[in-house]
Amino acid sequence: MSDEINAKEIESANLELWETHAKWWQDNFSEGADPEYEEQILPLIQAWSQGFTKILDVGTGEGQIIRKLTASGKDVPDLGVGIDPSMAQVAEAKKRLNSGMFLRAIASEMPFADESFDLVVACLVFEHVLEVDSAIKEVARVLEKGGRFIFLLNHPLLQTPNSGWIDDHILMEQYWRIGDYLKEDVTVEEVQKDVFIPFVHRPLSRYVNLLVRNGLYIEEMLEPPPPPGFIAQAWEYQQAAFIPRLLALRTSKR
Ligand SMILES: C[S@@+](CC[C@H](N)C(=O)[O-])C[C@H]1O[C@@H](n2cnc3c(N)ncnc32)[C@H](O)[C@@H]1O
Repeated sequence: MSDEINAKEIESANLELWETHAKWWQDNFSEGADPEYEEQILPLIQAWSQGFTKILDVGTGEGQIIRKLTASGKDVPDLGVGIDPSMAQVAEAKKRLNSGMFLRAIASEMPFADESFDLVVACLVFEHVLEVDSAIKEVARVLEKGGRFIFLLNHPLLQTPNSGWIDDHILMEQYWRIGDYLKEDVTVEEVQKDVFIPFVHRPLSRYVNLLVRNGLYIEEMLEPPPPPGFIAQAWEYQQAAFIPRLLALRTSKR
């Protein structure tokens, strides 16, 4: 019982941090500001979304995924909905796409009937969601049979807390250090001066087993190298250009 209360308290503190720092995300990761979104993430989601018309974007932020899919011209969704718990994100999403349907809601309690969508997208969201069991269950519930779930994460193996490129001048070795991979943990990182964002780390098997348990079967998994625009901006990553930052899963509901 006390664990449950504790989880709820942490989840609500995490949501408050996102509320406070929504503008940091909007300014730095949307509207062309981020090469990984422009060169890799948005094109991949667009390619995997072809032919789907009832789309739900979970943790939509300022709505860039719904905007991209709506603007694509071909196979424009009949129904594109974005949900996010942050008021500041939902307000900005509505401002940026007048015609969009954006609602305040969390992944673990979605305000939709069973099998309402043929495509659900969650992009860089579940590493901020504490209640992962109920959130994946909800994704499966709102998805119709044969529907698709596109699931993008910061690579859970290679981007654990305390992972990174090590240049050891004493041993004259260079390598990518992996943090405490098996430890499920919540950390609050100062991603920029005075900007604090909560991250939940869990091993990849935790996600894969949850997907399968909820009838979401993996059809394709991608671990793309960081795109050229990112490498050009992040000189320190050049030597680690073969370490993926992103993990993308295309799953189908049976
Ligand atoms: C890194 S941003 C990604 C935004 C968007 N998916 C994109 O790719 O542009 C993460 C978003 O997840 C939202 N979020 C945090 N906790 C959530 C939860 N429990 N359920 C749904 N969304 C959540 C945050 O408010 C934030 O807008």
